Amino acid sequence: MCGIVGYIGDHEASPILLEGLRKLEYRGYDSAGIATFSKGELRYVKAEGKIDTLESRLLKENPIGTIGIGHTRWATHGRPSDENSHPHLCNDCNIAVVHNGIIENYLELKEELEKEGFVFHSETDTEVIVHLLKKYLNGDFEVAFYKAVSRLHGSYALCAITADEPDKILCARKDSPLVVGLGENENFIASDIPAILRHTRKCYILEDGEFAVITKNQIKIKDAEGVIISKKMQEITWNSEAAEKGGYEHFMLKEIYEQPEVFKNTLRGRLKERTVDFPELGISKEDVLNWSKIYIVACGTAYHAGLVGKTIFEKTMKIPVEVDIASEYRYRDPLVDEKTLVIVVSQSGETADTIAALRHSKSKGAKVLAVTNVVGSSISREADYVAYIWAGPEISVASTKAYTTMLITEYLLALYFAGLIGTLSEEEIAGYVEGLRGIPSLAVQVLENPSYKLIAENLKEETDAFYLGRGLDWAVALEGVLKLKEISYIHAEAYAAGELKHGTLALITDGTPVITINTQKSVFDKTISNIQEVRARGAKVIIVAQADDEASHKYAEQMVYIPTMEDFLVPVIAAIPLQLIAYYTAVARGTNVDQPRNLAKSVTVE
Ligand code: G6P
Repeated sequence: MCGIVGYIGDHEASPILLEGLRKLEYRGYDSAGIATFSKGELRYVKAEGKIDTLESRLLKENPIGTIGIGHTRWATHGRPSDENSHPHLCNDCNIAVVHNGIIENYLELKEELEKEGFVFHSETDTEVIVHLLKKYLNGDFEVAFYKAVSRLHGSYALCAITADEPDKILCARKDSPLVVGLGENENFIASDIPAILRHTRKCYILEDGEFAVITKNQIKIKDAEGVIISKKMQEITWNSEAAEKGGYEHFMLKEIYEQPEVFKNTLRGRLKERTVDFPELGISKEDVLNWSKIYIVACGTAYHAGLVGKTIFEKTMKIPVEVDIASEYRYRDPLVDEKTLVIVVSQSGETADTIAALRHSKSKGAKVLAVTNVVGSSISREADYVAYIWAGPEISVASTKAYTTMLITEYLLALYFAGLIGTLSEEEIAGYVEGLRGIPSLAVQVLENPSYKLIAENLKEETDAFYLGRGLDWAVALEGVLKLKEISYIHAEAYAAGELKHGTLALITDGTPVITINTQKSVFDKTISNIQEVRARGAKVIIVAQADDEASHKYAEQMVYIPTMEDFLVPVIAAIPLQLIAYYTAVARGTNVDQPRNLAKSVTVE
């Protein structure tokens, strides 16, 4: 994820910026850069790749100056490259900008600015900001900054400097974090506290819609109208390791709790009033009508997202969908041709088996749509179409927010395609769109439920566990089990609830934990019958149910309630309790949660 550092004071800025950027490396990035003033001129150095590359260029170019801004970029609009790295500069190089977030209306702003003669040098959305600043700059940088920011739709944490007024840094924030650190005769800016923790523990945390004007001796925080706000200073008490994890004990927990915010990113720009739009995809109605089948291919958690995807696409598009594990698919000689859409799902975009599946599909004439997190990854480059999940970097090996955002992306794609070909009515689409809009706040409610630790306490001594469900609940159960296995090392299996009695029921004995997901009204009673079967063999039953379910609790030792919601969208929300149950069980067993034994985040070998 992109990171921002800023400095204004009496010391040389570039070593401070560089050190701050290194503190943000853990967040993942693909390029970095800084801009400072030197003899009244703006100097900048940027480089694709690691911060070491930036450092060696800095040593050569030595951009002196005591004011500066720095950035680590995690590509969204435009591949990783020197040109696309931040800072971005205006055409006469006297304004520089760094930005985190996404400017949704950048294409229309770009068109407007190009007509006025501004020349663009990158593929980024950010570059429109610096040209807007130049356009509005007429003797007062702050006035220009307010005008430029008022034109932006989307999310931003933004810092700008100009050689015309080399005594200040201007900042703005909306939906992307930014803090201003207070020093003596110097001040700091950062998107994340670790970047400045070595220099100060006193900071102001900007809220959405707030601006800051920062000089070396003053920090003015203003509202959207330019009125100065008196803000409470915060004292940071975390150490730097805790700060990287945002105060959470593990990256996995941080990533689980990031989900409501991340969901908004996945939905942003795609959810319209009553429809879904996917302008970046480039798939037409004719393309969709040409498909006679969809194949979803992936590994691990992404494969589980594919299993949910099968129901999502079949229900909305009325088209047959097959799901396959990439390492199987590539050797199966699968039945795909030019009338098949192959969807490859991959967080990293670098999984060797998934890449091989993509290539195999293309060689058979199929079109490939990538659902991935990483811009510029192999899969994103080789696929015909790409839908990004916008989860931000995921550091914990056990995938959480990438899984749920894969699901949301599948819903968005399915509704978009169904809208194109008319397999759902406008009313039906509008209903699901409304449901998706509510997903971030439902995620907040699930995260507030205090019951997970208690369940983990009861699971922590177990050697085996079973998860049951039917339909979408079964697909969610498979992912819940994977989470438990990979981080707590408890052996667990997920079963289609109706299938258990065909063999595995033999393993259910007195006290065996059975977690049943029972959220789908269409199979509710059937699942209750299966719960009765395991209870009769002595199982300890935990049920995940919707809040309006008045029956399940009669059959359970422990209940986990998720908010009442549209059954079809439940997987995104029901996954979260299972992530937290696995997390707290692993913590109770003392395992290495973020880096479980034998596992890797990205598997680039067969
Ligand atoms: C590894 C990771 C899993 C992940 C799988 C697929 O096994 O440990 O968490 O689901 O790879 O990764 P991808 O990046 O393709 O989604």
